[in-house]
Amino acid sequence: MKDVLFRKKNLGELLKNKGNIQLPQTLGAFDLMLLGVGAIVGTGIFILPGTVAAGHAGPAIIFSFIIAAIVCAFAAMCYSEFSSAIPVTGSAYTYVYIVFGELVAWLVGWALLLEYGLAVAAVATGWSAYLSALLEGFSITIPKAISGPFNPADGTYVNVPAIAIIVATAFLLTRGLRESTKVNMIMVFIKIGVILLFIGVGIFYVQPANWQPFMPFGMNGVISGAALVFFAYLGFDAVSSAAEEVKNPQRNMPIGIIGSLFICTILYVTVSLVLTGLASYTKLNVSDPVSFVMQMVHQDWVAGVISLGAVVGMMTVILVMTYGGTRLLYAFGRDGLLPKSMYELSKKYKTPVKNTWLFAALVAFSAGFIPLSKLAELVNMGTLLAFTIVSIGVIYLRKNKSIPSSGFKVPFFPVIPICSFVLCLFLMTQLSVFTWIASAVWFVFGLLFYFAYGKNHSVMNEK
Ligand code: ALA
Repeated sequence: MKDVLFRKKNLGELLKNKGNIQLPQTLGAFDLMLLGVGAIVGTGIFILPGTVAAGHAGPAIIFSFIIAAIVCAFAAMCYSEFSSAIPVTGSAYTYVYIVFGELVAWLVGWALLLEYGLAVAAVATGWSAYLSALLEGFSITIPKAISGPFNPADGTYVNVPAIAIIVATAFLLTRGLRESTKVNMIMVFIKIGVILLFIGVGIFYVQPANWQPFMPFGMNGVISGAALVFFAYLGFDAVSSAAEEVKNPQRNMPIGIIGSLFICTILYVTVSLVLTGLASYTKLNVSDPVSFVMQMVHQDWVAGVISLGAVVGMMTVILVMTYGGTRLLYAFGRDGLLPKSMYELSKKYKTPVKNTWLFAALVAFSAGFIPLSKLAELVNMGTLLAFTIVSIGVIYLRKNKSIPSSGFKVPFFPVIPICSFVLCLFLMTQLSVFTWIASAVWFVFGLLFYFAYGKNHSVMNEK
């Protein structure tokens, strides 16, 4: 039994198969950083700073961002070591399949599915809020009943724009739209452009009095804020999925992953500082805080440009994460852990159409009916769990002498992987009881599925 549950993939075979379908290795460190910023910057900067400052941390939200960045940086180093030693696609799921075997890999994959699925739902919800704000500027109002999660007390029933953007993205992906680095690059520049515009204009209206009291909810607020804004950094792990297409991955992968994290930290901290300086944190609990404060200081045109930039910018996050989710289902199907239909490509478009629509349907349901704050917490749980396993996995990776060891190495080994493991666990304890219960249900369901289906259908049975 134990042999079955912990059977491992063989790295040599994976690399050999990779040789048959070699992707061109074109991406350098700079491309990777752009890919990273494209996947990372979204709801986390345009929405979360408002709600988290208002409800958890106050202006001290900058510390929440810094703490979350430190946790991510540790985990990012562990990811970098894996992606440089095992440059094959599949990210944490594949790493863990090699190091810890099938059952743990399935659970990590299941956690990543929660991450990708609900991150798309959460970002689509944020996108919907900014779209409404943008349309308001043109005097077009989306009826309230169809513009928010199911909350009859507040008069909202379903978030139609969020569902619509997910369906549109799924449609594009089934047509074979690839994350072309060029389109991504343009979108990333637009995103960074509007963020710099916000900082450049906002800085002149900052009133230091708004930073008092700086830490209204104490250190506890800062820490629980960190567990929430952690969401803003998600996506850097998606960089590791590009491993097969990177020139000199041993050098460029770590620079790409850690570099994009660094750029995002600077942007997040600066935006939060300006945001909480422009308005009292108590007023920031709105769905589009960055453009909201610009309207407060009567910079309506800036608010409009920011809404437009946010609407465009969040689309890349939705696209990259949906892409990631469908490719994960594809990998499960290929390995036999999910039905083979997940691994089927459409004859016409050569894309996994069935799994894309399945993924989109589940995600659209969540985006349509569940509020953003609940979605963001659940996403964090899935991701933190994957990070804890990757962190501890590095220690086992080093022990495995059959894996080449010439690439990037986590410094201060094993202190950093252990710190990463402990900090991720700690942040998990900061999430709400609701999130723990909901995630427990998700994982129990995943386990049941594995024992009822995956274990018996795994392609490893053929060996
Ligand atoms: N980091 C992504 C965002 O903030 C998920 O939208």
